[in-house]
Order: sequence, then C-alpha cells, then structure tokens
Amino acid sequence: MLVMNNVTKYFGDFCALEDISLEFHHGVYGLLAPNGAGKTTLIKMLTTLLYPTKGDILYEGIDIFQLDERYREVLGYLPQQFGYYKNYTPVQYLLYLAALKGIEKEVAKKRVYDVLEKVALADVAHKKMKKFSGGMIQRVGIAQAMLNDPKILILDEPTAGLDPKERVRFRNMLSDLARDRIVILSTHIVSDVESIANEIIMIKNKQVLYKDTIGNICQLLEGKVFETEVDDQEMVQFRKNHFTLSEMQRKGKWKVRFIASSPQTDWTIVSPRLEDVFLYAYQDEEQSHDVDNNEI
Ligand SMILES: Nc1ncnc2c1ncn2[C@@H]1O[C@H](COP(=O)(O)OP(=O)(O)O)[C@@H](O)[C@H]1O
Ligand SMILES: [Mg+2]
Repeated sequence: MLVMNNVTKYFGDFCALEDISLEFHHGVYGLLAPNGAGKTTLIKMLTTLLYPTKGDILYEGIDIFQLDERYREVLGYLPQQFGYYKNYTPVQYLLYLAALKGIEKEVAKKRVYDVLEKVALADVAHKKMKKFSGGMIQRVGIAQAMLNDPKILILDEPTAGLDPKERVRFRNMLSDLARDRIVILSTHIVSDVESIANEIIMIKNKQVLYKDTIGNICQLLEGKVFETEVDDQEMVQFRKNHFTLSEMQRKGKWKVRFIASSPQTDWTIVSPRLEDVFLYAYQDEEQSHDVDNNEI
C-alpha cells in the first residue's frame, strides 16, 4: 500500500499542491485534471524525484525517501517526456536501460523479451525505433517501466499523442497489467481513464477534489443532466441559463446536453457521465450560470 499524508509542495513561494492525502491499494488509478493542475508534480513526488515541502509518503508503512533504492526497485515510471534512441531497436534500448538499473545480463535478456511480449512489441523487437508510431514508442516506454516487474507502475500522460485505435489498445493492455499491482496514470483526457480506472482522482485548486469510483463520482450529478432540442434563435439565451456540456447543430436546431437543477417537461433526463462531471468541475470560474448547485 502506498500512502500520501498531508503532502504539500511549494516551488519557491508558489504552492503547486496543498494538503494531499491519498491511498493506493491495487488496480488502476486515473489522475484526471486539466493541464497545470499539478499531476506531474504529484507523480514526481511519488517517484522520489521531488521532495514534498510538507507531509510524507509511505510505502508499506515506511517513508519512500528512507526506503530510497529499495523503493525504486518496486517502482516503474514512464515520465511525461521520455527519451529514447531512434537508432536503437527496443531490445538494444531495453538492455541498455537494464544495465543502467544494474540488472544482471542473463536476467535482463529474459526480462526484455518478457516485457516486449507484454506490450505486444515482440514482432518488432529487432526493428529500429525510428519507424515506430507514437503508440509503439509509448509501449516501449511502458516496457522500460516494466523491466523490474514493478509493484507500482506510474505513467505520466501515457496516451498523449496516440491515435484513437492506439488508445484502445493501450487501455486494454493497462487493465491487464494492473491485476496485481498499483497502476497510477495521469491524463487530461476523460475517455482515456473512464473505461479502465478503478478509481479517479481529480485535483482542483491544488487539492484533491474527488477520489472515488466513476459510478460514485457520476452520482454527484444524478438528476441534473438533461438533453433537449433548442431552436437556433433561442440558443444564446439557453447558454446563459444553463451550463451546456455538449452542443450539436442539426437542421436549424441544436441538440444540447446540459445541467439544470430540476426537470422540465420537454427535457430528457440522462445518466451523468464522467465527462459531464469533468466539464462541470473545471468550468471557467468566471462564467455564471443559473444553476443552484455550483459546488457539487
Ligand atoms: N519546477 C517548477 N518550478 C516552478 N513551478 C513549477 C515547477 N514545476 C511545475 N510548476 C508549476 O506547478 C503547477 C503544476 O504543474 P504540473 O505538475 O506540471 O501540472 P500538470 O502535470 O497537471 O500539467 C503549474 O502551475 C506549473 O507551472
Ligand atoms: Mg504534466
């Protein structure tokens, strides 16, 4: 178990994260927040690259900075910016990293082929990476994070730059990896975590806004999300009255999905989705809407 207790991080006078307390058991945790919210900062603390200003982080009850090398032995990490060598093949690259990690040569060989199998790159194991797609490179990145068979796998924006097909494949692979370990993955794209994360963590105003299952998070907007059709000329006023989640124009009418506090006869009530909560939670604070539950 990995635990953060009242962790605060300052960069000089600037507070990036404040009083963060989180627990990770096993499964996939989706750290979901817009850019600049503090995801990378949080992840860098969990990977011992940044030291918390206040609070502590414990693995199996012991401070991770005290565990030091022993903690990093159980940790796999894919940074947001990950460097690889275009002229290397995945096997060459991973053997090189394994050597840096001090993994013995014979053991390393077996591990390299094992992880390439896991990320479905075995058939290109000896091809130079310069011809790889974004998705394939990301899978090499995950392979390097898996080299030590980590109990904790932390991936910072692993789906950035992937096409939709690669995203689906990536999601399937992750849920498979997460069966017996902690997987923490950060993203600002709702659809990347909604089908695989056991729990979602949202950060807002430097603090944890939600940490819960998707079902429970969506429950917050239950009975408040509607769909209806709005005439073209009424749309400006409609937007002023309601927080719209999506708008689709068709034949002089708009099909809108929106939030309102109580139903109306010509509105269809719909089940809230994670995307709805995300849009609502991070709506521009300047905007004002006629919704009575601004804090959900
Ligand atoms: N080394 C740093 N020095 C100063 N400010 C930083 C540093 N790293 C991040 N920040 C600031 O902290 C905030 C959170 O950044 P970051 O953790 O990268 O967010 P995210 O990964 O969610 O996009 C941002 O306002 C960013 O500018
Ligand atoms: Mg980041």
